[in-house]
Amino acid sequence: MTARVGILISGGGSNMVTLVRSMTGTHPARPCVVVSNNPEAGGLIRARDMGLPAVAVDHRAYGKDRAAFEAALAEALAPFEADILCLAGFMRVLTAGFVGDWRGRMLNIHPSLLPKYRGLDTHARAIEAGDTQAGCTVHEVTPALDDGPILGQARVPVLPGDTAETLAARVLQAEHRLYPAVLRRFAAGDRRPVLLG
Ligand code: GRF
Repeated sequence: MTARVGILISGGGSNMVTLVRSMTGTHPARPCVVVSNNPEAGGLIRARDMGLPAVAVDHRAYGKDRAAFEAALAEALAPFEADILCLAGFMRVLTAGFVGDWRGRMLNIHPSLLPKYRGLDTHARAIEAGDTQAGCTVHEVTPALDDGPILGQARVPVLPGDTAETLAARVLQAEHRLYPAVLRRFAAGDRRPVLLG
């Protein structure tokens, strides 16, 4: 059975593009929809250019009512009957209610070597700490932020003179290698972590 994958984005969607492009041939999954909380997200146009349904659910329309936003998100997703959700540069914190509905079926990519540097500004924090390695992590999403079972990690060097921007660019390239590899294994029912250098 081919798994149907919904992808949630907030911005340019470079991770979404690499995931969509990876789901071909014998890959056990296919993309079914891209949804963004940001109607201006460039990734919505990139998704449509690849022939995918792309829907915006503007979180600003719901103010501080996270549950109302997530109900609208669920309603937008429903017609596409996704089996797996991939958060790919999705910048909204999801409540335990929404996460619970997708327990064991929702992945996220975070730009640090978890459990180090949960939350934001991961690259600046790694540089500030004098780390010689950085990277990214794909994990199952659970109610605690950036905390679920790790499904993959990719390591990159922190180089002398790195800024948060130069490190972010290096980590993003690693994300584009890691996420497709993890999704292919996860969609096949294999939860062994993917570890990339
Ligand atoms: C990037 O900072 C990436 O590290 C994180 O989300 C941001 C945007 O990624 N995962 P994308 O280009 O929208 O996939």
